Amino acid sequence: MTAAEMLVVGTTTQQYVYVASRTYKFRMNEILIIEDESLGFPRGEVLETSSFNKFIPPATENGFLVDREVITRLQEIGFDLQREEVNVARVRLLEELPWPVRTGVRVRRPLFEEVEGYLLRARPGKGWVVGIIKGTEELAGQMPEELRGLAPVIDRQGQLRQDAGVPFILGYREMSQYPHVGVFGGSGSGKSYGLRVLLEEVMQQRLPAVVFDPHYEMDFATPTGVVGIDRADFRDRFRIFHLGRETGVDFSSLRTPEVVKLLQGAGRDFSEAMTNAVEAIHKRGMDCDYFEKLLEKILAFLEGRSENKEEEERLLQYKSLSASTIRGILWRFQSLRRTGLFTGDVAPVETALRQRQVAVIRGSVRVLQLFASYLLNYLYQKRRDYMDRRQAGEEGDYFPPFLVVTDEAHNFAPVGAEINAPARSIIREIAQEGRKYGVFLVLATQRPRLLDETVTAQLNTKFIFRTVRHSDISVIQEETDITKEEAGRLPYLPSGDAFVSSAFFGRTVAIRVRAAFTSPPHTTNPFDEMEEKLQSEEEIVLEVAREGGWFPLQPGGVNPLAEAVGERLGRPVSYDEMVTMLDRLVAKGKLVREESPFGAAYNLVEEGETR
Ligand SMILES: Nc1ncnc2c1ncn2[C@@H]1O[C@H](COP(=O)(O)OP(=O)(O)O)[C@@H](O)[C@H]1O
Ligand SMILES: [Mg+2]
Repeated sequence: MTAAEMLVVGTTTQQYVYVASRTYKFRMNEILIIEDESLGFPRGEVLETSSFNKFIPPATENGFLVDREVITRLQEIGFDLQREEVNVARVRLLEELPWPVRTGVRVRRPLFEEVEGYLLRARPGKGWVVGIIKGTEELAGQMPEELRGLAPVIDRQGQLRQDAGVPFILGYREMSQYPHVGVFGGSGSGKSYGLRVLLEEVMQQRLPAVVFDPHYEMDFATPTGVVGIDRADFRDRFRIFHLGRETGVDFSSLRTPEVVKLLQGAGRDFSEAMTNAVEAIHKRGMDCDYFEKLLEKILAFLEGRSENKEEEERLLQYKSLSASTIRGILWRFQSLRRTGLFTGDVAPVETALRQRQVAVIRGSVRVLQLFASYLLNYLYQKRRDYMDRRQAGEEGDYFPPFLVVTDEAHNFAPVGAEINAPARSIIREIAQEGRKYGVFLVLATQRPRLLDETVTAQLNTKFIFRTVRHSDISVIQEETDITKEEAGRLPYLPSGDAFVSSAFFGRTVAIRVRAAFTSPPHTTNPFDEMEEKLQSEEEIVLEVAREGGWFPLQPGGVNPLAEAVGERLGRPVSYDEMVTMLDRLVAKGKLVREESPFGAAYNLVEEGETR
């Protein structure tokens, strides 16, 4: 056996083999070709790697990769485990074999053409270039021109790298077969970044989309400006709407059941009696003011506070309603109005979709949910009407297919019937039937366990980012074809790495999401922000103490200085905090601490000594 040669050293099932090499260090997720002619040269993907020698016995390797049988085989083939190091990989075959691979068969790394079919399921221009496939670095060097430069990635050192792997392209035309995308992962795992990349692709293809943006982060106007990324002018491809300002629900257009639905969403325990009362009182066409005044008048009448006989006559029809019911409706209605939900209408959002733009809707999660239930019903109906009319051979107002994208999806469609969630039913409906009409979901959540199961089951393509919580990992295992090893890696994935489990690919693919072409509005990391704040406070301490001629600062001066600093900062500063600040300045070399008989004294560093 030559040094770099790879050999099959054991088979577990018809799906897994062990491959060993003296010098070749296997890479996670790389594809290998097993030179077993009788089986048609099957391909496999490296799932686990390990190196061992007599000092590092295999049994202590994490997860115990190699079993007795493999060790015996290695020895039979001529490895001297007492004297040399061996690299071993556990390899999952990409197709099921009729019989197991023979031990001792040679293994080699493939050429790009040999595995292209496994890696590329859609051509560029026909899908979303989401990132690169991990373990394909070497193959990327052999890629044809059309695949180059598509998916730059930022590596773990923060370096931008071109062609670091074969692009991972999700064919969007295939979405009609495999609609709906899930994006799962813990906080900071790369979900929002991934959604940004997906939406950049959506904009590049000019697909209409409506995006609910509770974190105010989906703005695509600012190119990252990183060298090598210059495809970022999306300014005419998206529009931002603030709920209660540029868009909202036009109350006077609502039908009574829609009013009931919104009121139900406004608070818990909306009673049967309240529903009946709204049905008796509301007529389509009433505007907000009119409806609110009417409720107030009815309440006054029921409480015997009416002032006007004539009006009382007109209100008689409501005499069987109870005052507490009306009160319940009234406060719900008023709290809805206060959110701004009834300011503006959905026309600008509809126009944006017709213009094939991405409509980003901002607001708090709670109000967004209410709005989503209304807006999605409205837009879905438009699209359905168009399709149904076309089916019937009629001409009609064209309304395009569109995507619905949201973060915090577990808030919009939570599991558990007892949770009041106004948007859940329409999201469920789209999950189950949207495909027929070309309406697709992209749902991101850090808590897949809390997402409605009916919806989760319909997400045919799942991006799974770093996930630590056990209950979420088990949902992911139930809902995808991810292996035990892959699930075991989930808590350790770096931000931006993901497994993609897709009916479209037919296997789980490990990817790194590409560098975004645009950056979110506030990129300050909370820790950087904290550090900045700390530094500015320290500057203030130095300034106040210098200006006031406090140095050298004797122990007795600490309290008065704390007071002076507190005045400047606009908050009280305690003795202990003052000492902590001074000590930090000492640690940073900006002050020196001198012990004196009366305690520690602080002084400025001599000129020239300052670091
Ligand atoms: N594909 C990526 N390439 C480079 N950096 C990334 C990538 N994905 C995430 N990051 C980094 O990780 C941070 C957290 O990602 P983010 O998408 O905000 O997490 P989440 O939405 O899951 O909480 C980002 O601000 C970014 O700095
Ligand atoms: Mg996020």
